[in-house]
Amino acid sequence: MARWGQDSSSMKLLLFMVPLVLVAGLVSVLGPNPSTWLFNANPPLLFTSLTSSSSPTTTPSEGLLVVAVDTHGGEKVISENTHFNHSSTPPFSVQAIQTPHQQPKKDEQLLTNESYVPPERPKLQRKFSILDRTEAGLLQARAAIRDARNGNQTQDTDYVPVGPMYNNANAFHRSYLEMEKQFKVFVYEEGEPPVFHNGPCKSIYSMEGNFIHAIEMSEQFRTRDPEKAHVFFLPFSVAMLVQFVYVRDSHDFGPIKKTVTDYVNVIAGKYPYWNRSLGADHFYIACHDWGPETSRSVPNLQNNSIRVLCNANTSEGFKPSKDVSFPEINLQTGSINGIIGGPSASRRPLLAFFAGGLHGPIRPVLLEHWENKDQDMRVHKYLPKGVSYYDMLRKSRFCLCPSGYEVASPRVVEAIYTGCVPVLISDHYVPPFSDVLNWRSFSVEVSVEDIPKLKDILLSISSRQYIRMQRRVVQVRRHFEVHSPPKRYDVFHMILHSVWLRRLNLRVHDDQ
Ligand SMILES: *[C@@H]1O[C@H](CO)[C@@H](O)[C@H](O)[C@H]1NC(C)=O
Ligand SMILES: *[C@@H]1O[C@H](CO)[C@@H](O)[C@H](O)[C@H]1NC(C)=O
Ligand SMILES: *[C@@H]1O[C@H](CO)[C@@H](O)[C@H](O)[C@H]1NC(C)=O
Ligand SMILES: *[C@@H]1O[C@H](CO)[C@@H](O)[C@H](O)[C@H]1NC(C)=O
Ligand SMILES: *[C@@H]1O[C@H](CO)[C@@H](O)[C@H](O)[C@H]1NC(C)=O
Ligand SMILES: *[C@@H]1O[C@H](CO)[C@@H](O)[C@H](O)[C@H]1NC(C)=O
Repeated sequence: MARWGQDSSSMKLLLFMVPLVLVAGLVSVLGPNPSTWLFNANPPLLFTSLTSSSSPTTTPSEGLLVVAVDTHGGEKVISENTHFNHSSTPPFSVQAIQTPHQQPKKDEQLLTNESYVPPERPKLQRKFSILDRTEAGLLQARAAIRDARNGNQTQDTDYVPVGPMYNNANAFHRSYLEMEKQFKVFVYEEGEPPVFHNGPCKSIYSMEGNFIHAIEMSEQFRTRDPEKAHVFFLPFSVAMLVQFVYVRDSHDFGPIKKTVTDYVNVIAGKYPYWNRSLGADHFYIACHDWGPETSRSVPNLQNNSIRVLCNANTSEGFKPSKDVSFPEINLQTGSINGIIGGPSASRRPLLAFFAGGLHGPIRPVLLEHWENKDQDMRVHKYLPKGVSYYDMLRKSRFCLCPSGYEVASPRVVEAIYTGCVPVLISDHYVPPFSDVLNWRSFSVEVSVEDIPKLKDILLSISSRQYIRMQRRVVQVRRHFEVHSPPKRYDVFHMILHSVWLRRLNLRVHDDQ
């Protein structure tokens, strides 16, 4: 397949990300000192050792990206807003990051200034296309979300997001309701099980199968008419690719990459949508560690598409503004029955708990410092016989969640399910739903260098503060629950909402 990004004369279309990650971007919108705002209802967290290294949501530049542009014999075909009432466009201040090898051209630079309206060309005077209407709907959603930031709470029969667990509860709520109102996903029908339209629903990769089945069954969000879709789903499971396509112990990613390349070529040849956006309104999911590697087979899949990854490692190319952090949930029985719930803060006698193998670079450090060193720090490689893992989670105030072979750990959601405050020990990890959730209000982040100080850090959290954090863990739990069929505000809807936010960042143009 042609490498579009490197051949500007064949580029078909202008696509750019308007500012934002609307809901997350609030942090940066609201000023240079997010923590005072985030915690304005409470004293700021007392410990200073929290890493804020990976707080992507406060990096304004991450929200902006000029992807590609159309040229027709040098002539730009840009219809930025010519069909909309431009004065209703949210007045975002747009900056642009160029894809590395592309110098901005004059018109692109101008486009980054929202008050510039390109002159309408006769060839652009055409009827509203379905895409124009879709984009107009998104424009309205953006404006509504922006207005909601400082507006009133909206009623909701099931649940009203409220509290410091959210970056901005009103904006999230509005965005969520807008998603329910309009968001449509087209699932490509090409491809056969077991690799396509299928995935594991048990084990640590369970979210791959759960998401694929939920979106395929969804009457609300799935559309069979690709013209009406906001995003296009590539329905393969990386865990299944590893199981059925990868040759065991071969260390050869070739067959997986070829399968994915062939698939993208098929849908790019058969439908106009991939080429139209260079893949930017397409997404795939992967909980397997090799999720990021899989996208390396198709440059536009890696650079442009929305990659929903458990392995959300920013030092391996995960881009928080474009990609989505996928929660890793270990469903041993395929259901959350029996693993939800735990006692309140006062009935948790143990300070901290961890049990797990020496996977990856961080756990050896943790075990070296804390295994069998301190009665308050229950850090084990293997649990003693007869001790229940879930009982330990329920008895502990803090549950340690160090990265393993990949940055995500199923322990984060296990902690949330059992009402234990998660302690994230990772480098370059973007936790799930960071676009909406203010993780610092209900979890503790500890950098790898601070592992020796772990106990001091945990003890420095006052019991008042702990009680608040623990309650918030219980409150955000609904966003991580897996239901079949899905329930509003559960993990399926939150993942979809993250994709929706990424799509809101884009404007897709159709040039005919
Ligand atoms: C994708 O991004 C990488 C690194 O940013 C760059 O080297 C490569 O040329 C890009 N490829 C395309 C097709 O845009
Ligand atoms: C455009 O929107 C503004 C404000 O929303 C409104 O005052 C104006 O009448 C609109 N213009 C047209 C042509 O619809
Ligand atoms: C945006 O463009 C307008 C008209 O081209 C110009 O007057 C204005 O100074 C520009 N603003 C910025 C921030 O560049
Ligand atoms: C918020 O609610 C108050 C009282 O109900 C009302 O007066 C006000 O107009 C509302 N504001 C917005 C932006 O809807
Ligand atoms: C999309 O681009 C590829 C690569 O240039 C081309 O082979 C394919 O035919 C195009 N698809 C459509 C639907 O035009
Ligand atoms: C994250 O990516 C970096 C760079 O490739 C790597 O060194 C690190 O081990 C990764 N983290 C995990 C937990 O895999």
